[in-house]
Amino acid sequence: VSVEIRPCDPSEIGAVLDLWRRAGATPSATDTDEAIARLIEAPQAALLAAYDGGTMAGTVIAGWDGWRGSVYRLAVAPSHRRRGIAAMLVEAAGRELATMGARRISALVEHDHPLAVGFWDAAERIGYHRDPRMVRYVATREQ
Ligand SMILES: CC(C)(COP(=O)(O)OP(=O)(O)OC[C@H]1O[C@@H](n2cnc3c(N)ncnc32)[C@H](O)[C@@H]1OP(=O)(O)O)[C@@H](O)C(=O)NCCC(=O)NCCS
Repeated sequence: VSVEIRPCDPSEIGAVLDLWRRAGATPSATDTDEAIARLIEAPQAALLAAYDGGTMAGTVIAGWDGWRGSVYRLAVAPSHRRRGIAAMLVEAAGRELATMGARRISALVEHDHPLAVGFWDAAERIGYHRDPRMVRYVATREQ
């Protein structure tokens, strides 16, 4: 596929939210115009999108916290699945994180999201393996 990957522009925030809805990404408290605008401006993060011609076909967020890199919101439009676009996005996120300084990268993946687990279980070939040692604890704070 001739897919181009590049950082999202603030004018594309609506398209990003729409893609996440269509892709069935689990909604979160930060699925807002303001939060995505902040993400796009953040110096140690990237919101990358894959484009098939003029169509936004997928996204990924890469974030570097100074210690580890993280990958979030990997989502590909239903019309564009199983063409290697998610793998390309993860590779692009990895390159972006390496440029920022990250040597180790984590992806948080929901156990009960079969498409996500299907993808990540096959991601050995692009260098990711499941880490059974870890469990996640979360907090959500009011602004
Ligand atoms: C998960 C998701 C991003 C995968 O996108 P994709 O572009 O179809 O994935 P790719 O084409 O790059 O898949 C690469 C490989 O992963 C594996 N894979 C991908 N989707 C799979 C599935 N549904 N079941 C089993 N294996 C799968 C396959 O081995 C595939 O290679 P192959 O097509 O040659 O067999 C997409 O299904 C999606 O957006 N799902 C909804 C949102 C979501 O779950 N996001 C993940 C949050 S962490």
